Amino acid sequence: MIRTLAISIITLLTAFVYSCEKVPAEESPATTLPDSHQEEQDKNDEDPVDSGVNSKTLVVYYSFTGNCKSIVKSVKDNIEADVLEIQPADEGLDYAADNYAIGSSLIAAIREKPDDAASYPAIKPVNRNAADYDTIIIVTPLWWSNMAAIMQSYLFQEGSKMKGKKVGLIVSSYSSGISSVVADARRLIPGGEFHEDNLWVNNSNRSQQDALVKEWAAGFQNNTDTMPNTIKITVSGKSLPVVLDKNKAAEALVAALSEAPITYEADDYGGFEKVGALGRSLPANDTQITTQAGDVILYSGNQIVLFYGTNSWSYTRIGKMEYSTLDELKSFLKAGQGIINVTLSL
Ligand SMILES: Cc1cc2nc3c(=O)[nH]c(=O)nc-3n(C[C@H](O)[C@H](O)[C@H](O)COP(=O)(O)O)c2cc1C
Repeated sequence: MIRTLAISIITLLTAFVYSCEKVPAEESPATTLPDSHQEEQDKNDEDPVDSGVNSKTLVVYYSFTGNCKSIVKSVKDNIEADVLEIQPADEGLDYAADNYAIGSSLIAAIREKPDDAASYPAIKPVNRNAADYDTIIIVTPLWWSNMAAIMQSYLFQEGSKMKGKKVGLIVSSYSSGISSVVADARRLIPGGEFHEDNLWVNNSNRSQQDALVKEWAAGFQNNTDTMPNTIKITVSGKSLPVVLDKNKAAEALVAALSEAPITYEADDYGGFEKVGALGRSLPANDTQITTQAGDVILYSGNQIVLFYGTNSWSYTRIGKMEYSTLDELKSFLKAGQGIINVTLSL
């Protein structure tokens, strides 16, 4: 009875709060903005102001209420980077006042004419040149489902300098999904090499922000700086290099091997392969393929197949062993001789 009454009161209160909002529920911005303008000014004073390039990576951010600024601190704990804060030329505007009226009209103008420079609010001059960096990480709030107008202004101006560069995207919203922000980023950074995992921080996961950023940063860096393109296979003290394909399975295998080598048992099957359980699953993306001798294949998500013959099946290729002759490969894999111990390492 008391529980039913409590639920009814909460439901009524929630309905009341949303009825006071002008925006649709799925786009409702944070109803309370942190009172952090002085705190922001203090944090701004810590930001680098010189225009020298110290790193290969540039983190570019805009933050109205401090959430993205806080995300940038987490990023800096994990990635060596220079930082550029984008600031509107018009100081002191309250984009959230009057049910987000200013923010709403800025976004509406860009949506109406995205190719017209006049649609974008003016920003202060920037003291970093994106062209000097290999990697750009954009940290931006979401406004009305789109990228915050101030960040869009920066990218409209500078995005073309990011062609061919590795680009990461981190978006902070109250609750709205970020697909339109991703679309904005791709429109404004033509030719950017986008990291496929975007990080979305929102009010439900903000308390785990540090851990989320840490995990995202590890994936982002694995994918860029540290992903080796070979691993090693060792059988009975002899080793062959494996040239890796570029896919999630290979990435996950490298990540596992960076912690420790993996040894597993493999046995002959079908007169064309040595197959064995890896002891863990890797992300499969199976397609029908005809394998060749030397192929290193993920089968069923958790088994590794080393081919000394061919077979047609739905597999995910991880890479290919480098060998000189088929006889050498067969001897290395002890083809037809039963169980062997295989060690994979970096
Ligand atoms: C003008 C404006 C519009 C916003 N629109 C949305 C929205 O449509 N959906 C949403 O979930 N959050 C919305 N928000 C909330 C922000 O995305 C969210 O609070 C974000 O974390 C702010 O980042 P910041 O503190 O770095 O400025 C809006 C905020 C503003 C100021």
